[in-house]
Amino acid sequence: EKGTYPHYMLKEIDEQPPVMRKIIQRYQDDQGELTIDQPILDAMNASDRIYIIAAGTSYHAGLVGKQFIEKMAKIPVEVHISSEFVYNMPMLSEKPLFIFISQSGETADSRAVLVEVKEMGHKAITITNVPGSTLSREANYTLLLHAGPEIAVASTKAYTAQLAVLSILAAVTGKSRGHELNFNLVQELGIVANAMEVLCDEKEEFERIAREFLSTTRNAFFIGRSLDFYVGLEGALKLKEISYIQAEGFAGGELKHGTIALIEEGTPVIALSTQEYVNLSIRGNVKEVVARGANPCIISMEGLNSEGDSFVIPEVNPILTPLIAVIPLQLISYYAALHRDCDVDKPRNLAKSVTVE
Ligand code: M6R
Repeated sequence: EKGTYPHYMLKEIDEQPPVMRKIIQRYQDDQGELTIDQPILDAMNASDRIYIIAAGTSYHAGLVGKQFIEKMAKIPVEVHISSEFVYNMPMLSEKPLFIFISQSGETADSRAVLVEVKEMGHKAITITNVPGSTLSREANYTLLLHAGPEIAVASTKAYTAQLAVLSILAAVTGKSRGHELNFNLVQELGIVANAMEVLCDEKEEFERIAREFLSTTRNAFFIGRSLDFYVGLEGALKLKEISYIQAEGFAGGELKHGTIALIEEGTPVIALSTQEYVNLSIRGNVKEVVARGANPCIISMEGLNSEGDSFVIPEVNPILTPLIAVIPLQLISYYAALHRDCDVDKPRNLAKSVTVE
């Protein structure tokens, strides 16, 4: 039930802080330590390379998940789009482990890969929001998102829940391999939940940004470097799905290799800056597009902000910024779609779960 909300999407965006808190609680043991079932940890530790398979928003979560697992657990990870994996199966390592990320647990493209790798005798974990879903039943192990039903076609709370669960899986696996984090993940995810709340209270700001940058445009670009690049990909997908604005996400450094040709007078370029080590470079990219007439909308993190930024998000642990940087992009997309009279919850041509290959 969407209650007093005009759309499920807005309700689901607002549910992100409580979902974070629920995930922290569900993945804690009696001592308050984060925990993952031993058989899953054993499978992680027995593998020499992890293959993440997913589609759409879940694929974007996988790109961030790779960074979590490589940095915290120190196991190499590859991320693949499920529909392509079947044609271009990469050379597999000696002891591969597959992680399927799927909100619905029903995506046919991902299931096709699961069937194939199971036939090859490999193990698989499914990270899903739906207990008892096909991908959950057919994998060896399941990690649940605990996000509650997601009804809007555009995925929002499932994405941040996927990131939270992936961070916990990465941290607990790392710990079991002797790689302790130099921060307390429970605490940091709590800070993330609070920051999400702050952002959800800023709806008027995001409505204003959507009106200023997106109300009449034909296209829009999202740029970022490092983790911000992956969040930009998700922001672009959100925007195109529900507002039908042609939107693309790019790595800041890649712009000058072609895409910058598309920048015209007034083209909105939404730039993310949440990582100190790329702050100067992404701001350099913004200057490049502004010199070609772009209308820049900079969303930066506290401490990295400069005068003229359109929005400053609260500070969280640098590796966890995707969990909150995505929220402005979800809300901006929501309002852009509203301003354009689009059917926010049921965009044209799309279904909530794609059960055909
Ligand atoms: O249920 P899944 O996570 O497997 O779905 C994958 C994609 O179809 C899905 O994320 C899609 O891209 C969303 N509509 C994005 O908002």
